[in-house]
Amino acid sequence: MRLGVLTSGGDCPGLNAVIRAVVRKVERSYDGTVIGFLDGYQGLMDDRYEVLTVDRCRGVLPRGGTILGTSREQPYGVEGGLEQVRGTMARRGLDGLVVIGGNGSLGAARDLHDDGIPVVGVPKTIDNDLAVTEVTFGFDTAVQTATDAIDRLHTTAESHDRVMLVEVMGRHVGHIAAWSGIAGGASMILVPEEPFVLDEVCDALRRRHEQGRFASIVVVAEGAVPAEDSGFRLPETTVDQYGHQRLGGIAHALAPEIEARTGFETKVVVLGYVQRGGTPTAGDRVLATRFGVAAAEACHDGAWGTMVAVAAGEIRRVDLHAAVEGPKPVAADINEVAKIFFA
Ligand code: F6P
Repeated sequence: MRLGVLTSGGDCPGLNAVIRAVVRKVERSYDGTVIGFLDGYQGLMDDRYEVLTVDRCRGVLPRGGTILGTSREQPYGVEGGLEQVRGTMARRGLDGLVVIGGNGSLGAARDLHDDGIPVVGVPKTIDNDLAVTEVTFGFDTAVQTATDAIDRLHTTAESHDRVMLVEVMGRHVGHIAAWSGIAGGASMILVPEEPFVLDEVCDALRRRHEQGRFASIVVVAEGAVPAEDSGFRLPETTVDQYGHQRLGGIAHALAPEIEARTGFETKVVVLGYVQRGGTPTAGDRVLATRFGVAAAEACHDGAWGTMVAVAAGEIRRVDLHAAVEGPKPVAADINEVAKIFFA
């Protein structure tokens, strides 16, 4: 068996663990070969790759990022991209392709499958927003990183009697905000799924301080939105070259408003790419390894057009079409648990 593998979209802790597991399974169980395309779909279109072996993958398990590089380029975003992919697949004599990516990259994988390219998907994103898998690797690491930061912010916020706005990633849904907020004992969590009313946020902060609390940590997902007609609007955002809304800035927009309305000094911490960098947690390493092995098995079984996923704790294969349908919101019971601890 000859397989290609690529990592596409934003990087994520655990990518190297998936690559390593695919290579190990293919080489040792199927006596096959894996080549890794460089810089995501761009390398697939350009036929830029390196041969991956068990030896090449030694030491990569705890390493963040991706040894293959990544990009947001996609074959359907450029003229003749599909033909370039067909050309590379034929020249390299590949039986199939493993695409490790998030929603956008797996959407392209689904389209490649529909166009006759044998593809298996592996779900990746720190945002944990993919529909048909209970969890994606990278999420646990991001939550841990955000929680560590919140833990540290408590003491400085308390010493200065401040409101601290901690902005975390999560463009469509607020899994990182909800989990790190609960784990870090946040006073309030703002997620995209539940538009907020700024006056209610300020009332809650006031109540809290009236009860004698010296500080408040508010965790806000970058994609959180104010409720319509709630007396507060976010500044307009721009889009990048791939049509993605440029987020990262809501906390800076909120802070002066909260300070003006409550009189509490309000500071901002935007965690940004720190959440995506660094070594994966043990849980993410295990999940990524299970996904990699399962993806190699799916290729071996000819289960093209599927994505590996977690359901009830077990690894399953799901249809790639279903995999990219709509973002998975934060579970209602998680939001309810979080609210019990709000001011
Ligand atoms: O990995 C997902 C994500 O972290 C989003 O939450 C974030 O908005 C986006 O990637 C930013 O990625 P980039 O700046 O690399 O496009």
